[in-house]
Amino acid sequence: MIPIKSEQELEVMRQAGRIIAGIAAKLRESVKQGTTTGRISDLALKYMEAEGVVSAFKNYRGYPGNICISVNEEIVHGIPKDRQLAEGDIVSIDLGIKYNGYFSDMAFTVGVGSISSRAKKLIDVARKSLVFGIKQAKADNRLSDISYAIQHYVENNGFSVVRQFVGHGIGRDLHEEPEIPNFGAPNQKEVLRPGMVLAIEPMVNMGNWDCRVLKDGWTAVTADGLPSAHFEHTVAITEKGAEILTSV
Ligand code: MF3
Ligand code: CO
Repeated sequence: MIPIKSEQELEVMRQAGRIIAGIAAKLRESVKQGTTTGRISDLALKYMEAEGVVSAFKNYRGYPGNICISVNEEIVHGIPKDRQLAEGDIVSIDLGIKYNGYFSDMAFTVGVGSISSRAKKLIDVARKSLVFGIKQAKADNRLSDISYAIQHYVENNGFSVVRQFVGHGIGRDLHEEPEIPNFGAPNQKEVLRPGMVLAIEPMVNMGNWDCRVLKDGWTAVTADGLPSAHFEHTVAITEKGAEILTSV
């Protein structure tokens, strides 16, 4: 069963979304050559505390970080540490918060200084694939219309979508039903209804979609070592269509 949120619950999730989007905007500015992923994570904690929210990821199934920071061939779940960022790196930041009992989740990828045109294209295609996915997040569509739109756009542009990690419903829990793959045939699975809230999160690889997890037990990297980009929004389905909650 996919939970349906009441208007009051959606109002709390809108506030949570505005807060996390504000924090994300500040973190984006902190991505600079010479800084470390650990320092960006420290800032995230500081901004969360200032807003009176807590990290949704810290200690989630033992995850040790405040946020996830995945660099270049790292796809998702990179653990912040003392790694210095260098010009040309691409950096995926994934953050989640809990506010008044409700979760909000978002991610974005940004380049450090000047990056290759191929990396720019990768980031652009990943960002736009999320836009196309969100366009399908409307009442009476089916869940896999989102998946199909993302995969179709990404593969038409010569990149691939990761299979091993998926989007998810979100609300009182960080991960609720349904799972939202970023690939699949259209017009399958659940019919979408107003009040559903979905965290849609395409992970797009420059090369092959295959990945593996590093010995730290978390960091997912591309099997071929080529870069990957990740974008995520928490989106509510309303009578009027998709409403992106994680925007300011
Ligand atoms: N956006 C990711 C997800 O929904 C982030 C989870 S990180 C974890 O799975 F640390 F909490 F696992
Ligand atoms: Co998520």
